[in-house]
Amino acid sequence: MTLRIGFVGAGFNTRFHIQALTEVRDCEVVGIVSHTKASADSAAKLAKELGVGLSARAFDSVEEMTADPSVDALWLSNPNHTRIPVMEEVLAGSQRRETPLKGICLEKPLARTLQEALQVKSIADEIGVPTGYLENMLWAPSVVRAREVLWRRGAKLSGRPYLARAAEEHAGPHSAWFWQRELAGGGSLLDMMCHSIEAARWLLTEPGAPRSSLTPEKVSATVGTLKWDRPHYVQELKNRYGDAVDWSKNPADDFSRATVHWRTDDGQELLTETTSSWCFVSAGIRHTFELLGPEYAMEVNMAQCGASVFFSREVTGEAGEDLVEKQNAEQGLMPISPNEPAHYGYAGEDRYFVQSFLSGTKPKLDFSDGVEVMRLLMAAYKSAAEDRAIAPTEPELETYMPFGEVRLD
Ligand SMILES: NC(=O)c1ccc[n+]([C@@H]2O[C@H](COP(=O)([O-])OP(=O)(O)OC[C@H]3O[C@@H](n4cnc5c(N)ncnc54)[C@H](O)[C@@H]3O)[C@@H](O)[C@H]2O)c1
Repeated sequence: MTLRIGFVGAGFNTRFHIQALTEVRDCEVVGIVSHTKASADSAAKLAKELGVGLSARAFDSVEEMTADPSVDALWLSNPNHTRIPVMEEVLAGSQRRETPLKGICLEKPLARTLQEALQVKSIADEIGVPTGYLENMLWAPSVVRAREVLWRRGAKLSGRPYLARAAEEHAGPHSAWFWQRELAGGGSLLDMMCHSIEAARWLLTEPGAPRSSLTPEKVSATVGTLKWDRPHYVQELKNRYGDAVDWSKNPADDFSRATVHWRTDDGQELLTETTSSWCFVSAGIRHTFELLGPEYAMEVNMAQCGASVFFSREVTGEAGEDLVEKQNAEQGLMPISPNEPAHYGYAGEDRYFVQSFLSGTKPKLDFSDGVEVMRLLMAAYKSAAEDRAIAPTEPELETYMPFGEVRLD
């Protein structure tokens, strides 16, 4: 059986997924919808060139693609501010189908606020098909392997781990909408701490135990605008993206950290420490995971993929991201990744959701988990704003908007 996938969004992330699908069996790309026909055509062309979607084509709308019987499942990778309208179109399209979709995957973060995330989940509940929350770090092979070994040997003999640390820091995202807080919903915290908080929680959770075996009790966080509101960098953003991106008037956070206190179902206290940044400039990204327990530790540095290259000052080439994602230089000693889509977990993630949807099994990470991640992100923003620890059960979080009103385009 083959799962025929339609993508919504044709940008950076969809192109990563399309590359990852070269390592995934039993699926093909059949459709793409994007903001422009040209970008959808370009992603369809990539799927054809890579042999993962020989009949891939651009559709005119999300509703049309969802309703089309040639599509079995959707991978939604559209900008954060378009979550609700896209989900509404998916609902309209699904109501025109004779057979239901086999599943819908949606990229992190589930939405911009907890209120929106609950709305996304409620529309999905109405559609009534299995959902997947796309958090690739839970399938990154080095993290998966280190977690497995640590729990099997260290935790088994000396007791469960108690502290997980995760960091994802780079020099800033690649499209204008990320930098407009009313569209993205926030800055580095919303964009990247969703990865780190979920990965750290998962590292601390005993393999095979349910998510509910750890309860988050309080969140304390700090956010800062360290670099991108400086006049030189305000202007740089305007030069790149136009006057709509103005961090002198509408800055978001370009650095964030959070500590979450967790309680196990047998009463032990655990901690996660996470950081995210859009102002980290170095050779590649700072992307690390640590898990510590009574007699052991594990550490994964995603930027060390086992290969690096050196270019002398005589080698002057065009700026690009052909060595690693978010690369900052083309000279000197630079890390390279042999296979980024696999290394970051996209291939494993897509393989998992393809097989879950084909077999009709409920995925282990779905929209309700995306809602829980969003609850912690809102608690982190509220903690930073009010300078106090916040319990994720605070009812105000359901209407909390870190930067005031959000905008639907
Ligand atoms: N898992 C990860 O590590 C990871 C990495 C990057 C992005 N993401 C997530 O993926 C999503 C997309 O990010 P990106 O980096 O690809 O952004 P991008 O700006 O590179 O691409 C966005 C794409 O969506 C299209 N688009 C805009 N409005 C649309 C609409 N209403 N309907 C359909 N398509 C629309 C654009 O034309 C573009 O092709 C975001 O939610 C982001 O958080 C996840």
